[in-house]
Amino acid sequence: MAEGAPMAEGAPMVERPISIVVEVNGLRRREHVMPRLLLSDFLRHRLGLTGTHVGCEHGVCGACTVRVDGIPARACLMFAVQTDGCAIETVEGLAGTGELTPLQRALHEAHGLQCGFCTPGILIAAGDLLERRPGADRAEIEALLSGHVCRCTGYRPIVDAIERVARDAAGHTARGDHADDADDADANGDPGGPGDPGDPGEAA
Ligand code: FES
Ligand code: FES
Repeated sequence: MAEGAPMAEGAPMVERPISIVVEVNGLRRREHVMPRLLLSDFLRHRLGLTGTHVGCEHGVCGACTVRVDGIPARACLMFAVQTDGCAIETVEGLAGTGELTPLQRALHEAHGLQCGFCTPGILIAAGDLLERRPGADRAEIEALLSGHVCRCTGYRPIVDAIERVARDAAGHTARGDHADDADDADANGDPGGPGDPGDPGEAA
């Protein structure tokens, strides 16, 4: 059949692989994928990134959460072809330097995981929240977790862990502000800080 000619009624539709280019955890990949290959299957079976877990397969449990171009997404609800040209972050990319992130450490220390099935999705989603809202409060954290099913922990230690990181971030900010104020201290002994006029002759 000539290209572009209408398909005969009842003719089977033949799917062909499509070439996509994605950046996964900072590495650029060119792959050929079938049009209906789920992103979760692409990550797990094609790329071997099995940290992306698959629970419900219909967008409810949150275990498959990854970030696509910086936005949390359910990998079980996307086709791999939809991510052509996108940057994907999975749980494997979090400790890329070999060091656990503060959130990973906090979950570990607060016993925020047991079987760990929900953990990758929660790490991605909570990491995203803390990036956007570094000092997120408990209510925001609980709202976030309403989209993630954990059958083991009862949620409290997960909330505690995320809140601990948020508090640390808030503390850092406060300490940073004070440090800045201290840095503003003048040669004449004034403590500095906002509104301090500075020393005579000091550049405004
Ligand atoms: S497996 Fe994707 S949301 Fe449950
Ligand atoms: S730790 Fe088992 S499901 Fe959350």
